[in-house]
Amino acid sequence: MEVVTDISSLRARLKHESSVAFVPTMGGLHEGHLSLVRIARERAGCVVASIFVNRLQFAPTEDFEQYPRTLADDCRLLAQQDATVVFTPAERTLYPVRQEFMVEPAPAANTLEGKFRPGFFQGVATVVLKLFNIVQPQIVVFGKKDYQQLHLMRELVKQFNYPVEIVAGETVRAADNLALSSRNRYLSTEARVEAARLYQVLTQVKRQIEDGNTCFHDLEQNAARILSQHGWKTDYVAVRHAHTLAPAKTEDEDMVVLGAARLGTIRLIDNVELRRESCAKE
Ligand code: PAJ
Repeated sequence: MEVVTDISSLRARLKHESSVAFVPTMGGLHEGHLSLVRIARERAGCVVASIFVNRLQFAPTEDFEQYPRTLADDCRLLAQQDATVVFTPAERTLYPVRQEFMVEPAPAANTLEGKFRPGFFQGVATVVLKLFNIVQPQIVVFGKKDYQQLHLMRELVKQFNYPVEIVAGETVRAADNLALSSRNRYLSTEARVEAARLYQVLTQVKRQIEDGNTCFHDLEQNAARILSQHGWKTDYVAVRHAHTLAPAKTEDEDMVVLGAARLGTIRLIDNVELRRESCAKE
């Protein structure tokens, strides 16, 4: 596995590769990231993973400085997955001048995460487009853990005619179903136990919908209330159309229940998909 830090060396290395699968990350790697690398490995001869903590997608109040930087461990894990190249640019390599052109994301970026993290998806879309232009992959793998990000990346490539196939990886979870996240390492022992409740609450909403409950607003409010009762500060619990992220309608078949909430200073997000088979029969 090669570790490459500058753009011209990366371009030279990838010039003659006919199939490149790309996994963009911010490092602090865990099994979730590695599962995406395995998907990439199955799909292409050359697997490129990037590690870059992208300042553009962090608000000044957020944890850019504290974000885990574990490059040596990350490279070891990527080598074990047989990644071909790791691209780890310095900030001045990706942003040699102030980034003034920005990708203005689709309106779906203004809800959910975008509502609580203004500018977040603009930062994500801008760095992802830059990375695409540098790596020029045929396949890109994103995780469903960041469901709205995956949705927006699909829209980005569609609306900018970018010739890349987006592949979605399932969310990898711990034994208690907490979605793996680079930020989980900052949970206290007590908070780590409580953290599993987010998935439980979202799954409970999913089951209630599968059982025919279509009072989505009540389900969302109830889920948020349960979280608050256990010490969470809930940003949202939302039932949405799985493919558009518009608020779910009773006739929708494919839905997703998304949630974001904070335990102390650690903000966690998760989602569960569901399909209402019964709709077609009704
Ligand atoms: P990061 O949070 O490092 O995530 C990199 C990729 O790993 C994303 O596609 C994310 O959805 C996926 N991922 C994270 N946790 C996962 C889990 N438990 N199971 C499966 N996949 C998981 O997302 C970003 O970085 C950045 O926004 C980025 C796209 C790299 C742009 O800076």
